[in-house]
Amino acid sequence: MSTEQLANMRRNYTRDGLLEEHAPLNPFVLFQRWLADAIATEQPPVEPNAMMLATVDAAGQPHCRVMLLKGLDERGFVFYSNYSSAKAQQINDQPAAALTFFWPALERQVRIEGSIEQVTAEESDAYYNVRPLGSRLGAWASAQSQPLACREDLETALALLEERFSDEQPPPRPDHWGGYRVLPKRIEFWQGRTCRLHDRLNYQVEGDGLWKRERLAP
Ligand SMILES: Cc1cc2nc3c(=O)[nH]c(=O)nc-3n(C[C@H](O)[C@H](O)[C@H](O)COP(=O)(O)O)c2cc1C
Repeated sequence: MSTEQLANMRRNYTRDGLLEEHAPLNPFVLFQRWLADAIATEQPPVEPNAMMLATVDAAGQPHCRVMLLKGLDERGFVFYSNYSSAKAQQINDQPAAALTFFWPALERQVRIEGSIEQVTAEESDAYYNVRPLGSRLGAWASAQSQPLACREDLETALALLEERFSDEQPPPRPDHWGGYRVLPKRIEFWQGRTCRLHDRLNYQVEGDGLWKRERLAP
């Protein structure tokens, strides 16, 4: 792909707008509405609950990867991962995170920024226990983010676990696996418009704990 081809790639966004009169004062209400739209509209291979998670290490280097949103309420946005992974180390060093959702068919983006903490062991147990057996065993088999000599080692580890555990003999949740909740201080909704004059509504938590909404220039 040449620089010229990249420079000429562009879409004109005409699908929708985001005006204050349609935007509730509580950003969680708007997020739930947009997520429902995405689930109804986005076609596979897009996963509507996929989101970019950014964390920062102790040296200030940002790291970004895709996660799946697995829980949502007014406290925040929940995903599950390995508590010994690279991201877990970064979260331990700096308990701050940013999430970005991109819903291309809807020409929408949502950006979330805030602090991050582990969910309770009870919440992690509840989600672990509804995962398919293969995913539960995968959490045991993989030392996420660690170097692996070859793929075979991973498959051997899984095969050994499959001999030990089944749906009748279910594995317990590993201590090194569980949920995180991003507690937002800022949620920004972006709706693509024509001529790059996009709509951006930014919600920010004020000192009184209430959400303040303002429009940002695109
Ligand atoms: C669509 C998609 C969904 C993913 N969902 C998760 C997830 O929910 N949890 C997770 O730990 N990794 C998930 N991953 C893998 C992560 O992007 C990443 O590779 C992994 O968590 C290791 O990241 P780290 O080394 O920075 O800790 C997903 C990847 C993709 C492409």
